[in-house]
Amino acid sequence: MEKIELVTDEALEADLARCLSRRRLPDCFLYTGAGGAEKWLTLDGSATFPIAARLTELLAASLGDLQKHWGPRHNLVSVGIGSGQKERLILQEMSRESRRCYWCVDVSGALVDIALTAVADLEVDAIGVVAYMEDLDALKRLWREPVVLCLLGNNFCNYEPDVLLGAVAEALGEEDRFLFDCHLLEENDMLNPAYTSGLNAEFNARPLVARGLAETGFAFHIALVARQISVGRTYRTRKWLEIKKESRVAADGREIRLRAGEDIEMGFTYKFESGQVEALLKRCGFCILEQWFSPARENVLILAVRDHG
Ligand SMILES: C[S@@+](CC[C@H](N)C(=O)[O-])C[C@H]1O[C@@H](n2cnc3c(N)ncnc32)[C@H](O)[C@@H]1O
Repeated sequence: MEKIELVTDEALEADLARCLSRRRLPDCFLYTGAGGAEKWLTLDGSATFPIAARLTELLAASLGDLQKHWGPRHNLVSVGIGSGQKERLILQEMSRESRRCYWCVDVSGALVDIALTAVADLEVDAIGVVAYMEDLDALKRLWREPVVLCLLGNNFCNYEPDVLLGAVAEALGEEDRFLFDCHLLEENDMLNPAYTSGLNAEFNARPLVARGLAETGFAFHIALVARQISVGRTYRTRKWLEIKKESRVAADGREIRLRAGEDIEMGFTYKFESGQVEALLKRCGFCILEQWFSPARENVLILAVRDHG
């Protein structure tokens, strides 16, 4: 199995140091470095964080319908793969018809290895790619069309939707498909308790704790904040680490001094209503081929194509 590195450990470390010096900790760094993949898999498998598992159930229940939408020539690309178990489910179906190529892409090299191992027994030509999602342009040059491009496990909600959909639209050809899932806004605009659990706090603080921040030296905060975007008022999480005790963290061979009272801003997750996702797709030149909802309608899985008029 082939593995390509568009970003190296050294470049990731330098990017992390740059972000920390601006008091930012983007979510991609939660999954990289020593222990990142392991901590994610622990959180993903825990009963206190059922979001990812429910999205897997939705995908599994939709596979029968999904397979009507790809042909024998479609290959699979997935960006932000985690353990790669959702992609395994898809490839089990796809590889019944014909041998496929599969590009599994993630910023974490350790997760790319795990995802490659997850399909080692299937009749697929798997290629692992360590890259940022933001490098779709470079990624597109690696894959062979037509493809089903996947963003699964609520990844879609971690980016500015117009920017993300614009980049996906640029990357996709006429026969390509775009498959993604979303955990939708809950009733009464409540923050899901999964996000406030101790295990999630531990996962979010790990990159700094592993680099010298004392376990008692910070507080993890998460809130749901209203936000006006192109399709109206929506909500997104705001996450931050409040530094309680002066600390020094090591990154890229230097020490970064964090003072008590400083906030480290982290990544966000949008919570859309399903109509807003539909409106975003339309605005960005996509049309929906089919969508599937979980029984309580808190999750949606969408298969879309570029609308070539
Ligand atoms: C929420 S997990 C979802 C994992 C998996 N798709 C699932 O359904 O369980 C997010 C995944 O995206 C990866 N990731 C986060 N930010 C990324 C970025 N900017 N570029 C590429 N991968 C990224 C993480 O390493 C992780 O594997």
